[in-house]
Amino acid sequence: MANQFDFGMIGLGVMGRNLLLNMADHGFAVIGFDKDTQKGAALESSATAGTTVKGVGTLAEMVQQLKSPRKMMMLVPAGKPVDDVIADLLPLLEKGDIVIDGGNSHYTDTLKRLDYLKDTGIHFMGMGVSGGEHGARTGPSIMPGGDVEAYKNLQPILEAVSAKVNGSPCVAYMGKNAAGHYVKMVHNGIEYAIMQLISEVYDLLKNGLGLDNDELYKVFKTWNEGELQSFLTEITRDIFLQKDDKTNNRLVDMILDKAGAKGTGKWTSQDAMDLGIPITVIDTAVSLRSLSAYKDERTQASSLYKTKTHSVEVPKELFIQQLGDALFFSMIISYAQGLSLLHKASSELQMDIPMTDVVRIWRGGCIIRSTLLETFFEAYTSNPQLPNLLLNADIAQTMQKKLQHMRAVVMHAIQTGYPVAALMSALSYFEAYRTEKLPTNLIQAQRDYFGAHTYQRIDIPGTFHTEWQTH
Ligand code: 6PG
Repeated sequence: MANQFDFGMIGLGVMGRNLLLNMADHGFAVIGFDKDTQKGAALESSATAGTTVKGVGTLAEMVQQLKSPRKMMMLVPAGKPVDDVIADLLPLLEKGDIVIDGGNSHYTDTLKRLDYLKDTGIHFMGMGVSGGEHGARTGPSIMPGGDVEAYKNLQPILEAVSAKVNGSPCVAYMGKNAAGHYVKMVHNGIEYAIMQLISEVYDLLKNGLGLDNDELYKVFKTWNEGELQSFLTEITRDIFLQKDDKTNNRLVDMILDKAGAKGTGKWTSQDAMDLGIPITVIDTAVSLRSLSAYKDERTQASSLYKTKTHSVEVPKELFIQQLGDALFFSMIISYAQGLSLLHKASSELQMDIPMTDVVRIWRGGCIIRSTLLETFFEAYTSNPQLPNLLLNADIAQTMQKKLQHMRAVVMHAIQTGYPVAALMSALSYFEAYRTEKLPTNLIQAQRDYFGAHTYQRIDIPGTFHTEWQTH
């Protein structure tokens, strides 16, 4: 029967399939396409009884069976596959149809596609979806941007399938143009930063204090019951208990220390550099993933330098408390940096990103959800134009309370030889950001000395150059 389905999905990998099944569970009739017909069959067989779910092997079959205006989403790998699907779809669509790219596309690709499709009458939307496979099935955080009319059309479906916090759906219009993908990119940058910070804290707990996996589980369990409650704290807690099915060890101890990356963290850093926004913890996290890949060189260097790390000579309970506070402090810095980038990008890239909504929809469903987001929601509610979270008075009070422990952790880590690049970079960013008078006057003097780059003075307005004397 034609025109009977509410929503179509192109690409039935685990994310596409789960999101579609989630829609079906909320009463929408859904149809999915994948070239691999087995995936279509898998979709149908995993549907909840009584729901309307169909898998097809051609795009045309899918498009023909959608209600008008047709609503469909691609969840295919970023890059060329997205352009290929658009090319295949175009002859099948009509004016008014809505096509969503729900993958992790680079926002500049989304801008090109918006431009390419602007005269076709097709509504194209870039949309971030966060929450992994489980989130897609049970309630992700959804970041749509671009065509506001198309968003209104999709709103009932997106609100139904998204995560809910206090009854409020974790989806909102993220702004114009490629705002959806931009917000998701920055979400991932923050994700990289927090993961790096947790790994450094893990190193200090495990090697600095000598905790075993059961003790690590207990520390993260306690943390997750307090102010550090977050999805990433929670999964870290559980990782320590996972047994390896090939040996008698815990799985975490059998995993090679080389981190992969698909690019969204790097894109965040690249774009922040372009916009002149310092996001040092995210930059460090991206670089440290790259460094981790050089396992052979690290092995050579470790035998060359023979520098040993030592036990941290601080009473165990005190150091755990200091680490918890340092993690909390540096997590706030990570969010502050990512959100300051969004604030700047919102105006620079003409996106009009509603910052209050961003932190509201990150409270549930997504990878960086944490109770901290509630505090940030309050901060942006009282000032939606806040350029940096660190300027909020309540957050400033919290930072002050944690500062001594943050410094203590970095100091102990340095004294005992542990690599804590992200923790150090969070602290250094904070120390610089809260400093009214930085030593940058000297840099200006040097620039003017060798390159006549000019400088401004503290006492008289204007631009100055000096013929510097060689002494
Ligand atoms: C999410 C995740 C998801 C994925 C990223 C990061 O929000 O659900 O961010 O999008 O984990 O692709 O992956 P990499 O670590 O491989 O870059």
